[in-house]
Amino acid sequence: MAPPGSGSIFASVPLAAPVAVFKLSADFRADGDPRKVNLGVGAYRTDEGQPWVLPVVRKVEQKIASDTSLNHEYLPILGLPEFRANASRIALGEDSPAIKENRVGGVQSLGGTGALRIGAEFLRRWYNGTNNTATPVYISSPSWENHNSVFGDAGFKDIRAYRYWDAANRGLELKGFLEDLENAPEFSIFILHACAHNPTGTDPTPEQWKQIAAVMKRRFLFPFFDSAYQGFASGCLDRDAWAVRYFVSEGFELFCAQSFSKNFGLYNERVGNLTVVGKDVENVQRVLSQMEKIVRTTWSNPPSLGARIVAATLACPQLFAEWKENVKTMANRVLLMRAELKSRLQALGTPGTWNHITEQIGMFSFTGLNPKQVEYMIKEKHIYLMASGRINMCGLTTKNLDYVANSIHEAVTTI
Ligand SMILES: Cc1ncc(COP(=O)(O)O)c(C=O)c1O
Repeated sequence: MAPPGSGSIFASVPLAAPVAVFKLSADFRADGDPRKVNLGVGAYRTDEGQPWVLPVVRKVEQKIASDTSLNHEYLPILGLPEFRANASRIALGEDSPAIKENRVGGVQSLGGTGALRIGAEFLRRWYNGTNNTATPVYISSPSWENHNSVFGDAGFKDIRAYRYWDAANRGLELKGFLEDLENAPEFSIFILHACAHNPTGTDPTPEQWKQIAAVMKRRFLFPFFDSAYQGFASGCLDRDAWAVRYFVSEGFELFCAQSFSKNFGLYNERVGNLTVVGKDVENVQRVLSQMEKIVRTTWSNPPSLGARIVAATLACPQLFAEWKENVKTMANRVLLMRAELKSRLQALGTPGTWNHITEQIGMFSFTGLNPKQVEYMIKEKHIYLMASGRINMCGLTTKNLDYVANSIHEAVTTI
């Protein structure tokens, strides 16, 4: 450490690399080429390439702004009760026996990331022994890059990958996945994408989920669902929650980290919920009491605006119906862009098969472009995408589709 006056006490702090997805957007903004396209962004865009405030959100925001009964007092540590209850209800379903049996709890969190982080912190402290940092945590290969860091920062020392993506066939590697489940030590934690797997856009079918659940039950593996795209995969909230609900119906105790960033377009309001399903009310109460301790030292208590918007929307049948229509609007635009991109590539005769573009679901598509082709797209074509070849379908618009398709064709045929 430098003595006072002789330099900075931070002189030995290494400069960290920027987060890839944010760097890509910064590079995009700095690019002066009028043809530029950002397919790297992790958010919904309209056909004009603009962010979208959902009409139902606008409406509820205005109601909240003019409601003089509301104030800015602290929320309870675990969050707004009506938000937590309604959020868990859309994850588990209207008729969920677990909710009826009072063995579900929610923790309002700072986005889906916050739900993952406090869930991870709880598991490290209390799951499979006390402070058992050696419990293996399995993350799909590939996955959202933050999963590894979140569980690592929570203290887990043994973070492993499970097989998920079959690059050759551009689909789910079910056999490898099941083998990895089979071989995992009992009580290992598995992070499962509830729907619209990021980045591959490939989900197990219900039949495949059943096989996955059967092994997990037999091997005493803990399911930690990450549900960041409910509604975005199929346009239907219930269908997108099938896996989580199936696991609950099979008697699992589980966590489900919910994000309302994408399906409500509330990215910067940081609205998430950690749904906890336990065996009985007493177990859930004990878990929530420890969650309170964790939240208290993490963010103390959560922000209210986003949670109020979500709670008011989910609690009112008419607003709920409007929201579902808004979600469908977003999902349908993604589906349209998938179909349009595929048909253009097929019309161009671009080498390779492009069925995966329409078979994959959710916001993202794993194009299969290799890192050199990605570099060509960015440097020569000013089309920004992740090095993995992942593109956000919402970055496509009716105006840039031809340019993007032609550029992919050039990249694939010349690089
Ligand atoms: C798979 C996955 N989980 C969690 C998140 C985090 O969502 P939030 O922005 O609500 O923290 C994202 C966001 O991109 C995601 O893709």
